Amino acid sequence: MHILNVVGARPNLMKIGPLVEEMRCFPDIHQTLVHTGQHYDAKMSRIFFDELGIPQPDICLGVGSGSHAEQTARVMLAFEKVLLEEQPDVVVVVGDVNSTLACAVTAAKLWVPVAHVEAGLRSFDRKMPEEINRIVTDALSDWLFATSRGAVEHLRNEGVPDEKIFFVGDVMVDTLMKYRPRAEALRSPSKFGLEPKGYTLLTLHRPSNVDDADVFAGILDALAAIQCDVPILFPAHPRTVKRIQEFGFQERLAASPDLHIVEPLGYLEFLDLMMHARLVLTDSGGIQGETTVLGVPCLTLRENTERPVTVTEGTNLVVGTDPIRIVEETQRILADNAPSGRIPELWDGRAAERIISILHQHFCA
Ligand code: UD1
Repeated sequence: MHILNVVGARPNLMKIGPLVEEMRCFPDIHQTLVHTGQHYDAKMSRIFFDELGIPQPDICLGVGSGSHAEQTARVMLAFEKVLLEEQPDVVVVVGDVNSTLACAVTAAKLWVPVAHVEAGLRSFDRKMPEEINRIVTDALSDWLFATSRGAVEHLRNEGVPDEKIFFVGDVMVDTLMKYRPRAEALRSPSKFGLEPKGYTLLTLHRPSNVDDADVFAGILDALAAIQCDVPILFPAHPRTVKRIQEFGFQERLAASPDLHIVEPLGYLEFLDLMMHARLVLTDSGGIQGETTVLGVPCLTLRENTERPVTVTEGTNLVVGTDPIRIVEETQRILADNAPSGRIPELWDGRAAERIISILHQHFCA
């Protein structure tokens, strides 16, 4: 059985890691890893391969950045050649980035079956590029591996037949559970001059937040107020750094001495910092899930989430981008009113095992 695994952007890497590792347990599985090159900086890509023991990609497409159409088209053109050459039995795509969509479409057109890991997530906000990627990828996939019962329901509501849907848990949780002890040994907060449980960790990179100068300025106002109460550590995404320069926000940031901007961090260091944070402010999807597993309060700076289970069962609260609300909810948590939560069903570190066993049984039994 030949499985072709696809990665492209940073959040794909902590998802593919446990799948690649599990596939290695089966001598009759031959796997090929393709990196589209959507993310290419060492801090957005290579560091995760090194830390998570992911083998170097067999094939690199080197597509780089561009508009959505450019990037998607470049992946499709290059990936079509790979598929014709490799003739895999199945293509495994993870998450919801442009590379996920591009490879799913290309495979489906060549009648190569597609397995989508993290299927069924929906924000119901089509202005989010990832939402389009999720809908199209799910519509074309033959195996839809869902992280929650809510995701299963979304797929059923869209008419996906039950025999294609598998509720397996979340592969990101597999990675988190495996690497948690190693991350904790790093003692990362002290490297940044921070006390455990004495800081807020921030990530911000959604186009809806950082590509709009007014929205971004409002969030910076909220952060300026929050850093007076608790220091903020902000590993900034390249998109965000670019916008800070473009909008001339450097002076605003300089006026907030306890808002510390640093370069993007590796998986282990970031996990350690998340674990010991008093609070996490984010617009990322994966971080909402990770903080739920860690039991760390999370405020999501977006109007919606594709991971509602992190709100109904976990420690996440979706607060939007109104600066007053962000500050109020932060103060509530700092006053010890953090939402307590539980770990969602099947988020037990064994999602990859379930997924590969299903695929193996189909092709090799
Ligand atoms: C992409 C994903 C998003 C994910 C995020 C995680 C899509 C539509 N979006 O968004 O879902 O949450 O990755 O990081 O696929 N850049 C660099 N170096 C890199 C990569 C990007 O400098 O290694 C800069 C470039 O200026 C680029 C910009 O970041 O134009 C945006 O990169 P892109 O991959 O288009 O989208 P992300 O914002 O990273």
